[in-house]
Amino acid sequence: MSEPEYSDDYTDPRLAVLYDQLNPWAADSEFYLDLVMSARSALDIGCGTGSVLKRARAGGHTGRLVGLDPAAAMLDQAKERTDVDWILGDLGTVSFDREFELVIMTGHVFQVFLTDDDITAALTAVCAALADGGRFAFETLNPRLRPWEKWTGAAEVVAPDGALVRAANTSPRMTGGGIVEVVGSFTSPGWEREVRCPSQLRFVDVGELDAFLSEAGLSVVERYGGWDRRPFTGEQLEIITLATGA
Ligand SMILES: C[S@@+](CC[C@H](N)C(=O)[O-])C[C@H]1O[C@@H](n2cnc3c(N)ncnc32)[C@H](O)[C@@H]1O
Repeated sequence: MSEPEYSDDYTDPRLAVLYDQLNPWAADSEFYLDLVMSARSALDIGCGTGSVLKRARAGGHTGRLVGLDPAAAMLDQAKERTDVDWILGDLGTVSFDREFELVIMTGHVFQVFLTDDDITAALTAVCAALADGGRFAFETLNPRLRPWEKWTGAAEVVAPDGALVRAANTSPRMTGGGIVEVVGSFTSPGWEREVRCPSQLRFVDVGELDAFLSEAGLSVVERYGGWDRRPFTGEQLEIITLATGA
């Protein structure tokens, strides 16, 4: 068997075309779609394949919609809709000045920021992007539930070219400092080699999260523990936060 090939998640077009099948529309997407539909302008940071903004436009949103992501292969999927502004980059390469009524980070994008400095820089940029009274909505997984211990499943999907692809997670582990490493493994009968995608996600508890938000000039206005807007009690999987410029 050939040595595996290594790729950053989602930068490989063979994986980006599978993303929506592996992460189908669900209650979290509906939650964010409702927020976007009630804002006149929205920025989706780490928009990936752009599913929320594409649905918002298809659903009649007439305001400014901007999706930002550093993975060209993911944005290529988003670009099937040309009436949304898709920007290749991240908060280090693009900045916004009080332009959006709503900023969102969906699909645990907040957790890609690994160091304290990364988190503070990202949240400061989000704060600067918010128009007066604008809101920032995002979720992060609750470390108290140690969710990574269950990231061992596998799924099979059919790629657009008809090939069967098996996706699996292997070896999730907490490495310290709240950072979990997990390796995604993708195989397909037509591929010469397995594609492995090591990735890291940072976990913060609510106390740390609120300290980061406050340092960046953001204050929490709503917090939920489920996509049905049930209050967060400390025991739920998702920490869903809506914050505004302080
Ligand atoms: C799990 S996907 C989520 C995509 C989308 N938000 C969703 O809910 O389907 C994570 C996304 O974050 C993007 N990403 C990685 N690093 C990033 C960064 N520093 N800034 C913004 N986005 C980033 C990846 O390219 C990828 O598209």
